[in-house]
Amino acid sequence: MIKLTNVSMVRDSKQILSDINWRVEQGQHWVLMGLNGSGKSSLLNIISGQQWPTTGNVEVLGERFGKTKIPDLRKRIGWVGSVLNAKINQFDTTDRIILSGIFNSIGIYQDYGQEELDRVDKVMKQLNISHLKGRKYLTCSQGQQQLVLIARSLISNPELLILDEPCNGLDIFATEQILDQVAHLINQKNAPTVLYVTHQASEITPMFDHTLLLKDGLIFDQGETNRVLTTENLTKFYGHSVKVDKYGNRYLVYLDRSNG
Ligand SMILES: Nc1ncnc2c1ncn2[C@@H]1O[C@H](COP(=O)(O)OP(=O)(O)OP(=O)(O)O)[C@@H](O)[C@H]1O
Ligand SMILES: [Mg+2]
Repeated sequence: MIKLTNVSMVRDSKQILSDINWRVEQGQHWVLMGLNGSGKSSLLNIISGQQWPTTGNVEVLGERFGKTKIPDLRKRIGWVGSVLNAKINQFDTTDRIILSGIFNSIGIYQDYGQEELDRVDKVMKQLNISHLKGRKYLTCSQGQQQLVLIARSLISNPELLILDEPCNGLDIFATEQILDQVAHLINQKNAPTVLYVTHQASEITPMFDHTLLLKDGLIFDQGETNRVLTTENLTKFYGHSVKVDKYGNRYLVYLDRSNG
């Protein structure tokens, strides 16, 4: 699904990503973790064709960058992140925002008919937000807005779904609702591969079988979540003594203050 080879990115003479080698196979779902500014969003922006790497090879969904039409590729990728949120016209209605996902545009500039409107209804129903139809985006709560953006990203049946901190600012119930929706989605046939960024270990449900840890633009570790998320590994990763526990099948990560 994704093959990055020796990818680096420099902007304003700042090294943002260095020597990234990462493969995502079909059927895997990955969590990306790392401190603020570690390069997670930049990495995902490269994968979704929104930013160019300075060096290295990028292959996404079988297409090699430099040899493929990026706008066509982008239609196969669903993406939710703060940059998108900032671009949305707050006065647009939820259903029009979701419809715009079909055209991969902000706003609607193309013709559409009943078939497209039916697809909007279907995805709103799937995410339990049919009651928000016709509502202006700015009147929706933050959690509802996130669900609208997720619906927008799903309407084109993407093969790759990038969720960059989708549960930021959401209460525990709204967070669980989004995680349930993602779990439901990836259990369907032709499910997309999901890349999910979070700062909250509690959001790492068993569906995320792989984890990538980014530190200062470098991959600190990558692999099966069970192996990566350990007390020893995360203590090295954060450079602070942290403890990793599990409660049921959920992770808990907290600062170890047992030494004061
Ligand atoms: N166009 C740019 N010019 C200069 N610096 C940039 C540019 N884009 C990103 N950066 C810097 O690259 C670093 C990585 O940013 P990025 O947004 O990828 O981090 P992140 O891991 O997603 O962080 P967060 O958890 O805060 O979302 C940051 O220091 C950021 O300021
Ligand atoms: Mg980010």
